[in-house]
Amino acid sequence: MDLEDKVIVVTGGGSGIGAAMARRFAEEGPAGLVIADIDLGAATEVAEETGGVAILADVSDPGANENLILGAEERFGPIDLFCANAGIGMVGDEQSDPSTWDRMWGINVMSHVHAARHLIPGWVARGEGYLLVTASAAGLLTNLKAAQYSVTKHAAVAFAEWLAVTYGEAGVKVSALCPQFVNTPLLEGSEAFKTLGGNSTLEPHQVADAVMSGLQEEKFLILPHPEVEKFFQNKANDYERWLGGMRKLQRTIFPNG
Ligand SMILES: NC(=O)c1ccc[n+]([C@@H]2O[C@H](COP(=O)([O-])OP(=O)(O)OC[C@H]3O[C@@H](n4cnc5c(N)ncnc54)[C@H](O)[C@@H]3O)[C@@H](O)[C@H]2O)c1
Repeated sequence: MDLEDKVIVVTGGGSGIGAAMARRFAEEGPAGLVIADIDLGAATEVAEETGGVAILADVSDPGANENLILGAEERFGPIDLFCANAGIGMVGDEQSDPSTWDRMWGINVMSHVHAARHLIPGWVARGEGYLLVTASAAGLLTNLKAAQYSVTKHAAVAFAEWLAVTYGEAGVKVSALCPQFVNTPLLEGSEAFKTLGGNSTLEPHQVADAVMSGLQEEKFLILPHPEVEKFFQNKANDYERWLGGMRKLQRTIFPNG
């Protein structure tokens, strides 16, 4: 997809990867750029910088998604590219409070469902439309120490994949962005995430460049860390060996459990 004269919405656009995508998209001359975030101040700063418009939205709320989409379309016309990027990450395991699962599920998965519910009928009628889902390499592999994150990101990839299969022939394009670690505030909250990122942590603008290439090629999987493709293949080729390798990695990185 060529982004010139297109109407674009980026959720979670006030920070990190979303803000970097908005900055990169602005260079392409879109007809309208909407920066949506639960943090209106952050979204407004990015909107001022990119010539976009900020909209306050908690994307885990179905009504807020509807209002966001209606608000963007009222202002600029039909949305061409919707980037369901807002997400949260944290460490957690099977002992975590059930409310943690609900919260992560609402933001990392259901926000995509709520958006698709309002976008897909119009896109099928028009014969075009593009959904970019920010999942994670954790959605293809796993994220040590982060059960909820791994599970919800797998679900995000699964939903994107299902949409791509179901509506691809109707002209709807879908991409799943699956980076490993990226230097954003999401990492700041967790020593374990920071440790896991190690030397392969990318800067948000590098991810935004990979997204631009992926959108131009209209590729389903966008992998800013190219090595993820090999890890994914290794997992499919020999699941037992891959599990053994992940256990070994866990022992090495977290020797004290
Ligand atoms: N940083 C990484 O290492 C990494 C790696 C892979 C995938 N991701 C994914 O990238 C996406 C963006 O994360 P980031 O690293 O840029 O983090 P970030 O914390 O810098 O940005 C996330 C943005 O989402 C907003 N947000 C949070 N909850 C929201 C809600 N309910 N409604 C609307 N906005 C909300 C936040 O206010 C923030 O501006 C997430 O989906 C994350 O899971 C991040």
